[in-house]
Amino acid sequence: MNYAWELYAQNGFLEIDDLLTHEQCDVLNKRAKEIVHEVEVPDVLSNVFDTEKSKRIQSEYFLNSGDKISLFYGKYAHNEGNLVVEKLKAIDKIGHALHALDPVFAEISQSEKMRELVAGFAMAKPAIAQSMYIFKHPHTCGEVNCHQDGTYLFTSPESTVGIWIALEDATLDNGCLWVAPGEHNSPLRERMIRQDDKTLFKTLDNSPWPTDKLVPIELKKGSALLLHSRLPHASMINKSTRSRPAYTLHIVDRQTEFSSDNWIRPFWTHLEQRKGAIG
Ligand code: FE2
Repeated sequence: MNYAWELYAQNGFLEIDDLLTHEQCDVLNKRAKEIVHEVEVPDVLSNVFDTEKSKRIQSEYFLNSGDKISLFYGKYAHNEGNLVVEKLKAIDKIGHALHALDPVFAEISQSEKMRELVAGFAMAKPAIAQSMYIFKHPHTCGEVNCHQDGTYLFTSPESTVGIWIALEDATLDNGCLWVAPGEHNSPLRERMIRQDDKTLFKTLDNSPWPTDKLVPIELKKGSALLLHSRLPHASMINKSTRSRPAYTLHIVDRQTEFSSDNWIRPFWTHLEQRKGAIG
């Protein structure tokens, strides 16, 4: 498979058509719902997923989720600790080691097709650092503010690539991703640092977010978007009547130095191509 890597270099993102089949998307969507039923959530207020820094930094549950399958509630899913909808409609995302610990997610995350795609990243030792299943339900899940993934997964030199896979059509209406083309050449603005049992944000550069340059990228079910470590991106609130499920993987080059003060303690899964593999 030939991918347009020159476009990735130019824009900082790349659309990959039909990375997964519709059947594979359906399998992941079904499995994610099962996980919501199977996995217990300890406490509503301690793990609400919210882009407001103050809430996230206090979440011990979040900090320990790098090598687990953990559930995070949507920003608007509770009222002072009480859920306003049933659990299935309240969970915003599942993270961060689905790729390693859940057999259904692991099979698709580590497939030959995924390895073939990742082989194009020109990494010496590509490995999955984290995975997330994102429901983005209407009403209960919030917007995601403009950010760069390198803030959360920093390596020296920078190597992180995000793979964002639409598991249903992602549209303007239901909160598709917005990206700022070419802005991967702008500086990394901040890093989220882990310090003891909490995290803090360290400003690296005061450049404003290029919010006026953001363009929406609508994706068909099964298609994916690759995101450069420094590419500013965001998603708006889901105004439709249906969820906007997505599965994301973040790949880093293990040949680089993965900063020891990154928030996450990853469950590493290497993605080299298997010798003699076909298909
Ligand atoms: Fe992101």
